[in-house]
Amino acid sequence: MCEQIEALTRGVPHLIANLANVSALLYGAIPDVSWVGFYLREGEKLVLGPFQGKPACIEIASGRGVCGAAAATGEIQTVPDVRAFPGHIACDAGSASEAVAPIFGKEGVCAVLDIDSYTPGRFCDSDKEWLARVAAAISGVF
Ligand code: SME
Repeated sequence: MCEQIEALTRGVPHLIANLANVSALLYGAIPDVSWVGFYLREGEKLVLGPFQGKPACIEIASGRGVCGAAAATGEIQTVPDVRAFPGHIACDAGSASEAVAPIFGKEGVCAVLDIDSYTPGRFCDSDKEWLARVAAAISGVF
């Protein structure tokens, strides 16, 4: 996936186009996911960016939900059961598990990669390694 991200975005000077293509790539490449996309940091908020899946929440306030936790801490969040995560934001009632990786730009977290699944337990700690590599590959487009 990292090689494909680099190949798809190399030399392309358009952030939204790159993130749109990366979300489509990951949505097709990662098994058993219902939503893959980006929230982009705007001041203290996160604002919906390019994604694949059902329409989603547009703004996430600082520190809110799984995305806000990843942005605030700079740490990858893997949530096997979203109902057990305090403050989880349910954009899609069918979503059962979630992973969010912060993406780092020149001034800290500039975006998060959010991945949802309808399958309980789809994401756990062992996913953090590949999520970190994918997030690092994506940071090259910012
Ligand atoms: N569930 C996320 C919100 C975004 S949607 O999943 C697309 C959260 O709690 O941050």
